[in-house]
Amino acid sequence: MKLETLYSPVADIAALSQYVGQIVTLRGWVHHLRSSGKVRFLVLRDGTGLAQAVLVKGSLPEEDFQEFDRLTLESSLILEGKVKAEPRAPGGYELEVSCLRPVQIAQEYPISPKEHGVGFLMDWRHLWLRSPRQQAILRVRDEVCRACRDFFQARGFILVDTPILTPTSCEGTTSLFSTEYLDKGKAYLSQSGQLYLEAAALALGRVYCFGPTFRAEKSKTRRHLTEFWMVEAEAAFFTLEEVMGLAEDLVRFVVTRVVENQEARLRLLGRDTEPLQEVLAGPFIRLSYSEALVRLEAAGKEVPWGEDLGGDEETALSQMFTRPVLVHRYPREAKAFYMEPDPADPRLALCVDLLAPEGYGEIVGGSQRIADLDTLVASLEANHLPREPLEWYLDLRRYGSVPHGGFGLGIERLLAWLCGLHHVRETIPFPRLIDRIYP
Ligand code: 4AD
Ligand code: MG
Repeated sequence: MKLETLYSPVADIAALSQYVGQIVTLRGWVHHLRSSGKVRFLVLRDGTGLAQAVLVKGSLPEEDFQEFDRLTLESSLILEGKVKAEPRAPGGYELEVSCLRPVQIAQEYPISPKEHGVGFLMDWRHLWLRSPRQQAILRVRDEVCRACRDFFQARGFILVDTPILTPTSCEGTTSLFSTEYLDKGKAYLSQSGQLYLEAAALALGRVYCFGPTFRAEKSKTRRHLTEFWMVEAEAAFFTLEEVMGLAEDLVRFVVTRVVENQEARLRLLGRDTEPLQEVLAGPFIRLSYSEALVRLEAAGKEVPWGEDLGGDEETALSQMFTRPVLVHRYPREAKAFYMEPDPADPRLALCVDLLAPEGYGEIVGGSQRIADLDTLVASLEANHLPREPLEWYLDLRRYGSVPHGGFGLGIERLLAWLCGLHHVRETIPFPRLIDRIYP
């Protein structure tokens, strides 16, 4: 395969407005082909946008003009030509081609513009990523991830990378992926960086991590992946109030950035941005678990006190408000072992779930952590969790323990909501679901 150098500057399609009247080189893939008499049109895709290229017989070498007829959808090529403003063309600019060099002629492309089922598209995920919708989602994802990092950096949180291979569980033993760890026996893929982040918070004060997270969940729902990305924050001396405030501020910051910078992509996705604007219009709603049960009962969904809220209940609750809802103080028995009991009612945990509106449900889970050694040991026992692999975690309560807390935000669930997608599977480049690990 020959990659010829043409002599004009290489331009991104997205930057064509800066090159009007100039000769440039464009490099990319065939998105669309059309012939009409002595004129050939192709829409080129280069990852930054789409541009129409026009080949007029006689205004480029005859061999180059002939090459057009070999082109197929998704063939890769290099074009040289003059940039012209053309309001009728996709993107608003057109290239008057003076040189065409195929790089590779693509075989018959499996994805056609006709409707395909999601199962089929997922089998071809490695190519499906090239479609305008999938590109738009990935770009919004990039914006969201950057916004999270910017948010924490601006607030003095230090990035701390937590391990993926761990000796024990963090979020319950039923959803662990295990692997043989050399001659040390079993190791598990991380379900959350939290426990390690707590150690780092006692070293650095305010910290966050951002990485892949694994849950061998047998749940086949629109909200569950077996591998997803979570951004987690942890801060020494933080109480539940501060955890809730920080989670609200983060979500508000990310929504603002996406609405400001990604409007065109949301439009391409058919996402009405009105409900997102509404989210920014006022403070988020705060409801205790008990208040949430009352609201749910009034909506015909009875939950026995003590049980966690499931997907259906979250959907129902998050449809009752136009802004996100922070549900706090769940019963301890429904939540993880590390959560601080509420001094006002020790049956409750000082925890919070942030539910996105429009039926999307939980996108953040967080809490204040148990700070006292004996309380933590008792909680491990009550949850039938072994103590030895967590001795180091207990040490954090032996050496300068302080009240502290934090939360985790699931990037894919956040994106599904922001992009208005029903299922999380399109929000991650290569989704891992209970029944899918290919491609
Ligand atoms: O509520 P979770 O399980 O909380 C924790 O893991 C805490 N240790 C975080 C912390 O306090 N540092 O998970 C946090 C978030 C959820 O709210 C959800 O957005 C996402 O992670 N999440 C999933 N996303 C996709 N697929 C799954 N299977 C998910 N499980 C959790
Ligand atoms: Mg949760």
